Amino acid sequence: MAHFLIYRMFHCIVFDMPSKKYFIITFGCQMNESDSERLAAVLEQAGYIKALSIEKADIVAYNTCSVRQTAEDRVFGANKVIAALKKKNPRLTVMLTGCMVHYGKKELKKRLPKFDLFLDIKDIPKLPTILGINKKTLAKEYLDIRPSVESPFSAFVPISYGCNNYCSYCIVPLARGGEYSRPAKEIIAEVKNYIQKGYKEIWLLGQNVNSYGIKDKTYWANKRLGNKKPAIEKGRCSFSSLIKEIDKIPGLPAIATRRRQQAGDWWLRFTSPHPKDLSDELIQTLKNARHFAHYINLPMQAGDDTILKKMNRHYTARDYLSLIKKIRAAMPNVALSTDIIVGFPGETQREFQNTARVFAATNMDMAYISKYSPRPQTVAAKKYTDSVPLAEKKKRFDKLNAILKRSALAHNKRYLGKTMTILIDKADNGTISGKTATYKTVETSTAPMNAKKLLGTFVDVTITKVRDFSLEGIIKR
Ligand code: SAH
Ligand code: SF4
Ligand code: F3S
Repeated sequence: MAHFLIYRMFHCIVFDMPSKKYFIITFGCQMNESDSERLAAVLEQAGYIKALSIEKADIVAYNTCSVRQTAEDRVFGANKVIAALKKKNPRLTVMLTGCMVHYGKKELKKRLPKFDLFLDIKDIPKLPTILGINKKTLAKEYLDIRPSVESPFSAFVPISYGCNNYCSYCIVPLARGGEYSRPAKEIIAEVKNYIQKGYKEIWLLGQNVNSYGIKDKTYWANKRLGNKKPAIEKGRCSFSSLIKEIDKIPGLPAIATRRRQQAGDWWLRFTSPHPKDLSDELIQTLKNARHFAHYINLPMQAGDDTILKKMNRHYTARDYLSLIKKIRAAMPNVALSTDIIVGFPGETQREFQNTARVFAATNMDMAYISKYSPRPQTVAAKKYTDSVPLAEKKKRFDKLNAILKRSALAHNKRYLGKTMTILIDKADNGTISGKTATYKTVETSTAPMNAKKLLGTFVDVTITKVRDFSLEGIIKR
């Protein structure tokens, strides 16, 4: 008997095939990060385990982004790395998925000869079959795949997929296709499941979250800033009603320790809303939602009406300003951020000055500023030449960044001396950091032995120092 046991153990160790390993490299937005978690789940169901480094992997997946040339260049430049990896491991499989798949397999194979497989993200349920593995993925629809979530306290929940807006510069509608809203029941069940597991932060994701459920995607074409109630698809609801329903989900019972009094709470976040679909009703809902963390990223893209029109954004600079005024009136402590593109084709000095002026007037907490990058097949790339030189785009970028630094610091100064609740999302020895509800990064410290225990918990911190883009504080005892 003892012999048999030893033989079994020996057999397991020496003769069983070790598990194959996967490694995923993710580019782009949170939607892609969320997709990578679904891809990881498919591979894990097929028997793969996560590799600690790319060199240890049997399959490497690039989950790509097409939003700017720079994001694509990082993938198109990967041939050399892949060639070196394949030299060491000739059985390595390299796949590409995500937004670059829109180029088509033929074109991609020509430019990325070392890649073996090009797969639409929506087809990842078929991956085990493609890899010749007998195990079937449980979910047929890609959004139904239960993701292998990276974080034990923060989760992404896609509510919609794709985009119908066709902003003239943007590849997303071409890369991801038309907008599809998931049934409300599925979304609510998924959020509930996370909250019951003790998750503290939920991100609702979509390219245009606030057009969720809307039947006629062009209803706003006749109605500026969409205060008219649009018709809703079956099984869906408005974004405002979705927030109300999700907000009803109670957190776990609070653990009555001094520092974790808010253990039962959780924060609701979303990205990104479109200004044209941001109704008064939604602002009221956000104001009243108990779990909504008061931070909104509301992409403006430009503050000049000619450029906004050429961008196909369907609002004016004045509309945008009045919208954020309404948001701030309803939620005085809300933090706002925006996205801006500088150097759109034909953007004159004067047009840029308008954007700079309006941007200063928006008084943003944060901004994501991009230099215009022509995307093949988009209206802007086909219709206009990329006329603003790179050096000029850089100058405009720097000018906006200088404005941002001033407004961000002014906002941050209001936090000095205040006690804020933060959700700890990084713990590295004794240095820990987290985000306020308003999405400000706060660095703080604790005894190294406590750091890991605090990860994913709410902690009260008194702010002692402010910088342009972050705060520093001490944990309140
Ligand atoms: N759905 C979101 C944004 C998605 S893309 C929205 O409606 O705003 C993320 C950001 O990338 C955009 O807000 C825009 O600022 C930037 N971006 C998109 N296409 C770009 C391009 N061709 N060149 C430079 N920046 C771009
Ligand atoms: Fe792109 Fe515009 Fe859609 Fe945003 S709303 S994803 S910028 S097309
Ligand atoms: Fe990039 Fe696709 Fe997201 S183009 S920004 S990964 S939707």
